[in-house]
Amino acid sequence: MAETMIEVKDLTKFYGDHLAVDNISFEVKKGEVVGFLGPNGSGKTTTMRILTGYIPPSTGSASIAGFDTMTGSLDARRHIGYLPETVPLYMDMTVEDYLRFLGTIRGMRKDHLKRRIDTAIERVKLGDYRKSFISKLSKGYRQRTGLAQAILHEPDVLILDEPTVGIDPIQVVETRALIKELGKEQTLLLSTHILPEVAATCDRVIIINEGIIVAEDTPENLAVRLRGTEQVQADIRGPNAEVIKAIREIPGVTSARHIEIATGSRYNIESSAGNDIREAIAAMVVNNSWGLLQLSIVPMSLEEIFLELTGGEEHGGA
Ligand SMILES: Nc1ncnc2c1ncn2[C@@H]1O[C@H](COP(=O)(O)OP(=O)(O)O)[C@@H](O)[C@H]1O
Ligand SMILES: [Mg+2]
Repeated sequence: MAETMIEVKDLTKFYGDHLAVDNISFEVKKGEVVGFLGPNGSGKTTTMRILTGYIPPSTGSASIAGFDTMTGSLDARRHIGYLPETVPLYMDMTVEDYLRFLGTIRGMRKDHLKRRIDTAIERVKLGDYRKSFISKLSKGYRQRTGLAQAILHEPDVLILDEPTVGIDPIQVVETRALIKELGKEQTLLLSTHILPEVAATCDRVIIINEGIIVAEDTPENLAVRLRGTEQVQADIRGPNAEVIKAIREIPGVTSARHIEIATGSRYNIESSAGNDIREAIAAMVVNNSWGLLQLSIVPMSLEEIFLELTGGEEHGGA
């Protein structure tokens, strides 16, 4: 059994009389990449700030690598790299100066720090920008600077609070790839309020809603639990009646509906859980010499997910 790197036990946090986190417990083992998914205001940042020792819990406890975040906070912090929701960056410093400044504050020795700055900059792919002023960097590159400070002191646990919020789509893709890389070497807990993020990066997902953990599973199992069926949308050029007949003949397809849209015909297709029928649809279109203009999985909205997990109406299946 792998070592427990993050342990949260019966954790509750009140702000005044407002209950932000309601008696939650979870563990993250060494090497795991865990997504902490929940809508805005569900308690993700609060939990992370307790984990990183910035605020105390009201009741319950949290520990990192076996060190309590309150009573053993110095030891706990040595093990943590933290990317807060808003990284306090010093705009008038260069990337390199900023990292040197933080490393010095953290008590890192000069030559060790020098090597670590090089490694951190290389790992987050900031090489071309090391002498750039932070004020000149795009949001995506500022976020990389934030990641570089998080890994600077070689922590074995990384806690990243909504690492891709507010950055442009291309840099989101690159940042996710970067996080995936980091996750190969470090234990990682990352919060997000969007589902595709956890599907793209995590081994396991913990879902929190209104301060309560409502589900914990692999992204794949959650997808199956959440929906008995998969929904696919395909825009196909071809004779409607024949197209719909051919779609219904694909194994696993449970229903197909046709609607007219501005650019032609769209088919909303449902299949039984675990069946990705996109390849079969593409092959069917090619075999019939029709045209495939668009083919995609219809993502489930977070609202649908929480409704489902918190005992909303059944969607059948799983
Ligand atoms: N410093 C604070 N003082 C009072 N209430 C807070 C504070 N920080 C967060 N909250 C409240 O606690 C709840 C959880 O917030 P937060 O942990 O930031 O959620 P998330 O990160 O999931 O969006 C929200 O209702 C929020 O308004
Ligand atoms: Mg937050």
